[in-house]
Amino acid sequence: MPLLSDYTKTLEPSAIRLAGKVFSERFDKDSIRAYNVAIGNVSLPSFEVMGTELIPIFDEEGNVIKERRVVKYTDTSGTEEAKDAFRHIIGLNGVDVKDKYAIITSTGSSSGMMYTELLTGGMVNEIDRSIMGFAPLYANYMQFADMFKIKIAAINRILEQNGKFTMPSEQEIERFIKEHNPNALILIPNDNPTGSHITQEQINQIAMTAVKYDIWLIEDAAYRGMCYTGHSVSSIWNISENQIPGITGRRISLESFSKYLNYCGGRAGAMFTDSKEFYDAFYAAQTALLCASTEMQEEIAKLQNVSKSSFDAWLANLNNYYKRMMESFVTDIRKELSGVIISNPDAALYSVVDVRKIAKPGFNAKDFVLYCAGKGAIVYNENDIKTALVAPMAGFYSNEEGKTLGKTQMRIAYVLWPEEMIKVPRLFADLFKEFEANR
Ligand SMILES: Cc1ncc(COP(=O)(O)O)c(C=O)c1O
Repeated sequence: MPLLSDYTKTLEPSAIRLAGKVFSERFDKDSIRAYNVAIGNVSLPSFEVMGTELIPIFDEEGNVIKERRVVKYTDTSGTEEAKDAFRHIIGLNGVDVKDKYAIITSTGSSSGMMYTELLTGGMVNEIDRSIMGFAPLYANYMQFADMFKIKIAAINRILEQNGKFTMPSEQEIERFIKEHNPNALILIPNDNPTGSHITQEQINQIAMTAVKYDIWLIEDAAYRGMCYTGHSVSSIWNISENQIPGITGRRISLESFSKYLNYCGGRAGAMFTDSKEFYDAFYAAQTALLCASTEMQEEIAKLQNVSKSSFDAWLANLNNYYKRMMESFVTDIRKELSGVIISNPDAALYSVVDVRKIAKPGFNAKDFVLYCAGKGAIVYNENDIKTALVAPMAGFYSNEEGKTLGKTQMRIAYVLWPEEMIKVPRLFADLFKEFEANR
């Protein structure tokens, strides 16, 4: 089995949450009432204007004296209802995580990402181990890695003329592992920012390599189900021990309701794993953040009863919405800006625009982005002056070669209403031409 980072050797649940964790694992806990005075989890109702639900509160004689709501902390791993809601929705989305260890993460799947890097990367048995990914890689992996001085070793993928990113071959991946000695490998089956879909066959191949080199296999499932190619949902959880012996006990998935349930601000995320050791380490680390929002967990608990037919209809509708918007955007920007290279997404909700063929030498996407945000303004008429905000891609790469690729690339997120999104290709082209003319 892969090893956890040296950080975990001294890691324990916080003093405040230690007793609660130990009690929750007792075999006889259902027959014992524990008076938990270890944690400052107040029982009084929340201030009047907060919360809308009413709950009965009893006086000493058992009379209802108030009916206001209390918002207490939950267990660090979350409520059983919230975990079941995740299990249920992930199941409807084609992946079975029923028997996996689960933790509701405190700040969407982002805090899960942070802890997963901290627990698997960096010093492991006193050897500095990197975390491997495929770049461009969702920028926050680099952000957290920098915070903890963990190295991200990423194989760069190239955006080709046809709008698809390359995927490294099995041999390349193996060569890279030998050279960089990662302790974990991150896969994003429906990827931000590339829009690539990693098929089940590709995941299986990578999983075999992960077993061979004894490394953790991390799946970031933020866009689970958001694929426009007709492929079935691919996942590390679709692999059986019979298929790939040794796969069990090294898998971690980071789950999120932000994107496929349109619940970004709810900060609903979860971590699933088949490693008890990883679960315990993650739990201990998360005790410092106490728990995820109780209100969010109550809200998502409602998802336990969603039917397969209503979920399927929801997802089909969502995918149809994004697919149409992407097709029209890609066609329009190619017309507006001749020679531009744009990724034509198979999955998720982003495109990468590359101006490497049309920009003058020395183009720097970050300068362009700052120009658009800071002073760019296209006057279509006196009441219609516009600019666009896009993301420079250098931050999605971890090495110099990648940062050079990123210098001519920008990421577009398909997040505006279609009637607004339709205006962006021409606006982007006009801003680019204006920026280039003045440089
Ligand atoms: C690939 C990927 N992972 C994780 C996240 C984080 O999502 P959240 O913290 O909202 O669950 C995002 C958000 O955009 C993402 O694109």
